[in-house]
Amino acid sequence: MAESTKTATLNIDGSTYELPVFSPTAGPDVIDIRKLYAQAGVFTYDPGFTSTASCDSTITYIDGDKGELLHRGYPIDQLASQSHYLEVCYLLLYGELPSAAKLEDFETRITRHTMVHEQMHYFFRGFRRDAHPMATLVGVVGAMSAFYHDSTDVSDDWQREVAAIRLIAKLPTIAAMAYKYSIGQPFVYPRNDLDYASNFLNMCFSVPAEEYHVNPILSRAMDRIFILHADHEQNASTSTVRLASSSGANPFACIAAGIACLWGPAHGGANQACLEMLREIGTVDRIPEYIARAKDKNDPFRLMGFGHRVYKNTDPRATVLKESADEVLELLGVEDNPLLQVAKELEQVALNDPYFIEKKLFPNVDFYSGIILEAMGFPTSMFTPIFALSRTVGWISQWKEMIADPQNKIGRPRQLYLGETARNYVDIEKR
Ligand code: CMC
Repeated sequence: MAESTKTATLNIDGSTYELPVFSPTAGPDVIDIRKLYAQAGVFTYDPGFTSTASCDSTITYIDGDKGELLHRGYPIDQLASQSHYLEVCYLLLYGELPSAAKLEDFETRITRHTMVHEQMHYFFRGFRRDAHPMATLVGVVGAMSAFYHDSTDVSDDWQREVAAIRLIAKLPTIAAMAYKYSIGQPFVYPRNDLDYASNFLNMCFSVPAEEYHVNPILSRAMDRIFILHADHEQNASTSTVRLASSSGANPFACIAAGIACLWGPAHGGANQACLEMLREIGTVDRIPEYIARAKDKNDPFRLMGFGHRVYKNTDPRATVLKESADEVLELLGVEDNPLLQVAKELEQVALNDPYFIEKKLFPNVDFYSGIILEAMGFPTSMFTPIFALSRTVGWISQWKEMIADPQNKIGRPRQLYLGETARNYVDIEKR
């Protein structure tokens, strides 16, 4: 924990309270209000945590005004162009880029855990055949705690490590199985001779009836999408994982909670919603109609893939994805993809519109990712599961950091109560 270097003074009804202020290595100072209630008898009020730091962390840093995203200090664009997903996983989990030997060892450990318990196959069969893969993912990841009892004791360092490796290794397998199940195709077992991204593509797109070769262009694009979604500090799903874990719940249950939170359209579900919106707009001449709707206070419609709680400038992940979209579509020979044309025009119109300029609304990670995923052959229902499998390492890294933190205690927010004060029960015949 940082040392307090300054204090903030709070004045309530003539009484003065000195509150410690911590200075981070980057970002705004943080006022420590942990003793506020004990000293002053008041709570702070911050629905949506717009001004509240819920923990200290050394994993990811975002400067929303600059549009900067760093993992352990390394800029996301450098990681996306020079690293690969499993190396980024190592960086997030252990704090430093690995040596060649450490990376090889880590990759071997992940690769050796890609299969799921055979009995899990029967579990899948309990879902309706047209279930959304996210619904299946939430259930099956939660059910991992019923299969892997030897890695659910969170107080044991070794068990925590095994659970982390299992989750990162098995999420692609489970996501691919959820997809295969939803389209009525047989499950494809993982192949340990393939890299992480190629293995996922193979499990999604190969069928026993014919040979399938993973296109290296698609594999590189997939890997980049995994990197760009790997972690994003204390977002809603990560905070959900931390809160669930603060009670001592097992890691599989906590990650299932994170997946459930990610599903919502304001969070990871925005990639599916964004592509559906682009399809609905269909042609560039309809863009003004949708821009007008997004600006209309009486219309609940929002431009999906636009805006962010933290970024008030370009989302650096969107910049990389826009380049990737151009690259992938050109390499696949579908550069005249009408959705990409609509997306690019929509972005331009919004970025020049006073409403979006004033509110600092820029394209976020979900704006271009769907176009790439669709070009790769994924249906929209797989977009959020792909986000979930990529983000698992972020959730796990944050979870491990939290459990190792001596200040870790159960999360228990307070409230501003506006209900009835105490009153006597009234018998039913007198109501
Ligand atoms: N289209 C139109 N108006 C918007 C949009 C949008 N996409 N986003 C925000 N606004 C307006 C909003 O109506 C509000 O206006 P006013 O101040 O007049 O009431 C103002 O901008 C601030 O919005 P907010 O909802 O208070 O901001 P927030 O920080 O609570 O919400 C957000 C952030 C991402 C939920 C929101 O921008 C949004 O709903 N975007 C669309 C969904 C989306 O793309 N989500 C993915 C986020 S990035 C990946 C991830 O986190 O998973």
